[in-house]
Amino acid sequence: MSAQPPTDAGLVLFGMRGSGKSSVARSLSALTGRASADTDDLIERATGRTVSDIFARDGEPRFRDLERSAVADAAAHPGWIVSVGGGAVLHTDNRRLLKTVGPCVWLHAAPEFLWDRIRTDAASPGRRPALTALQGLDELRELLHVREPVYRDFADFTVDTAGRSVDDVAMIVLQAWQSWPRSAPA
Ligand code: S3P
Repeated sequence: MSAQPPTDAGLVLFGMRGSGKSSVARSLSALTGRASADTDDLIERATGRTVSDIFARDGEPRFRDLERSAVADAAAHPGWIVSVGGGAVLHTDNRRLLKTVGPCVWLHAAPEFLWDRIRTDAASPGRRPALTALQGLDELRELLHVREPVYRDFADFTVDTAGRSVDDVAMIVLQAWQSWPRSAPA
């Protein structure tokens, strides 16, 4: 049965690596029949290369340029569910575009939960190159420390994903989406 959100708005899923954005996007797409797009998928399809290869051979600035194009591409499709890489919303242009899509939902979890998912995810080597001189859990803690204020400020809704299945998170996000746009305070 389709659970169509009562709005034409699309939806944005953002948050750290390992927060389950692309899996939740797929689950929501199956629930609602809405198309979904993941910016890392768009980049890999457009270039025929993995995210890690782009970082290794061309550097992070080139990846961020490609990411900006992927965000613009996804945002140009009204009603889509858009999941973005963990660094995408650090860039002003991306934040501005993503706000035109619909409610922006932060999938939140503590670094320990994220690290558990990342180290067992077969996609990690191709998708998740080192971003700092730190490694593993230390890198995640550092990134989250820097990014959290931006994430918090950008989020229309925050969903804690720790200990929840992908489908449970998708249902919670769907309820938030269905309440959008929030009614103005009286
Ligand atoms: C990044 C997260 C990755 C990918 C790239 C950079 C980041 O996506 O875009 O490795 O800056 O946090 P996921 O968040 O989907 O792992």
